Amino acid sequence: MIDQGIISDIKYRNPIEDVISGYVSLKRAGSNMNGLCPFHSERTPSFTVFSSSQNFYCFGCGAGGDVITFIMKAENLDYISAIKFLGKRVGIEINDEEAQKGEASRTRILAMNKSAAKFFHTCLMESDNNPGIRYLRDKRGFTNQQIVHFGLGYAKDGWDNLTKHLKGQGYSDEEMKTAFLSSKSQKTGRSFDYFRNRVMIPIIDMTGNIIAFGGRILTDEQPKYMNTSDTPVFKKSRNLFAMNFAKNTCADKLILCEGYMDVIALHGAGFTNSVATLGTAITPEHARLMKRYTKSVLISYDSDSAGQNAADKAFRLLSEVGLEARVLDMGDIKDPDEFIRKRGKEEFRKLLEGTKNRFEFKFNAIKARHNLNTTDGRVKAAAETVAVLAEFPSSVERTIYAGNAAKVLGVNQETLLYDAEKYMKKSDKKKSSEEKQKMMIRSGGYGDTVNPDYVKNPAAAAAEEAIIGMMLLRTELVGEIKKIEGFGAESFFTEFNRRVYEFIIKSYEEGNGVFDEGCLSRSFSDAEVGRVVKMKIRRMELSDNGINTLKECVERLMDATSVKSGNSIEDLEELIKNKRRKNQ
Ligand code: GTP
Ligand code: MN
Repeated sequence: MIDQGIISDIKYRNPIEDVISGYVSLKRAGSNMNGLCPFHSERTPSFTVFSSSQNFYCFGCGAGGDVITFIMKAENLDYISAIKFLGKRVGIEINDEEAQKGEASRTRILAMNKSAAKFFHTCLMESDNNPGIRYLRDKRGFTNQQIVHFGLGYAKDGWDNLTKHLKGQGYSDEEMKTAFLSSKSQKTGRSFDYFRNRVMIPIIDMTGNIIAFGGRILTDEQPKYMNTSDTPVFKKSRNLFAMNFAKNTCADKLILCEGYMDVIALHGAGFTNSVATLGTAITPEHARLMKRYTKSVLISYDSDSAGQNAADKAFRLLSEVGLEARVLDMGDIKDPDEFIRKRGKEEFRKLLEGTKNRFEFKFNAIKARHNLNTTDGRVKAAAETVAVLAEFPSSVERTIYAGNAAKVLGVNQETLLYDAEKYMKKSDKKKSSEEKQKMMIRSGGYGDTVNPDYVKNPAAAAAEEAIIGMMLLRTELVGEIKKIEGFGAESFFTEFNRRVYEFIIKSYEEGNGVFDEGCLSRSFSDAEVGRVVKMKIRRMELSDNGINTLKECVERLMDATSVKSGNSIEDLEELIKNKRRKNQ
């Protein structure tokens, strides 16, 4: 772990307004600053930077944190790398040894993954006719070179080949479970391999660490793939398969696929600028990651309807971060892997020349859906075209696309444009009323995914949020609250707030009274960190955050959770049990 003093120094020299100004155009509004949120798409600014507390918070999407959290999100980095990034910005070098002190679990998971990858690879290569190598060479047509380049492997059939191997190297059951390499049987209490009888695909990050695995079954059984879930070293929403290779050749264009196998096939055919998401739909974080390495993304998704719908979403997310996006049309061929096998790389190269932009892609689908030889078909197609045109905020783009569509549909360009603008106004209104409704639902606590217990006892949850907010705003109160007799983590009603409270107390104790809220990101999701920051910001807007107010909140929480006996079945059962015990 990096020394708290160094972290504080780095934060001090990186004022949050300065850092964020490099990403968002901020305008001063009183003591705060406002801008358009870089983490979701919006037209009116709800992203706020609070100078006094050095936090950011978006009232639209709930993203929030400090300067370290911001860099983690904007640059797609983990906690330690974000601190190094900010350190570099102000000329503070952090050596790796220092960063890795106490980072044992992270370092060990990476070492364990590396060892597992070697083990899988050896099992694949040790004979010429094991099921894994037969599958990859014979069934998929991969060459030795492709297999070695991607470090592919084979998890043999059997219960604990890898588990035994890693145990022999000194890794514990607990560590293997954290890395998603083993699971523990509830019945026998014994650990067994998570991946069995699958070909193994290691996922490698930008610095060459093996952070996860995908495992494909050799038959038609389900599930086809098993993938590492999120671990301390891996977040699937933040990583792209083969980006470690593609980053060297994608400055101009990046090819985005759906599957591992597509990417392996494309790299083998020389298209080394291909990547894939990891068994999940594309996220804004993926889009931002791509934006760092390329200007233009060619969407190369499966040609089935699921793939085409996913392409529509990809178009939206990519354009939101300012990437040019185009889509490949593979006709009736299922995916890039099949295309390369059936038609070869020269034909694929031709596809890259004939890509479509978002309008052409959607207009094509409209043309395919309707019979343009009939009046009825043309009217329906024109109405759908208007809705698509309305998705383009630039009037220049709308004008050009409307011109092209007008010719095909045999209607007037002006009419299409006029209707599109009308459509935009109507949908703007609808959007803002929908947003208001969402806001109301959120403030009422309904549909609260971060703290689902909130609705069960809003009075208690509100008191908890006030307590946490004050602890973050004035660190010295953490010492005070620990002194309050009869109060502790067990006093919390909602599980989420209890977790936050425990985390703050633990970090405060480990840091000897210094607490850096940036480290919340290590144990909490982005949405959760945002929520915690909101608690702090709420308190900032109030003038009274002293020890007496804190004690009042503690009392309010105790009141709201004191059990009124006899009002539930559980209480009744408890009562009966006690009586029986006494009578015995
Ligand atoms: P092949 O059928 O082997 O050619 O796979 P593919 O690479 O073409 O993948 P496909 O297009 O079927 O799926 C896209 C991606 O979704 C895969 O690479 C996986 O990451 C993920 N995926 C597919 N099936 C499953 C599944 O059953 N479970 C999980 N967790 N992920 C899956
Ligand atoms: Mn496939």
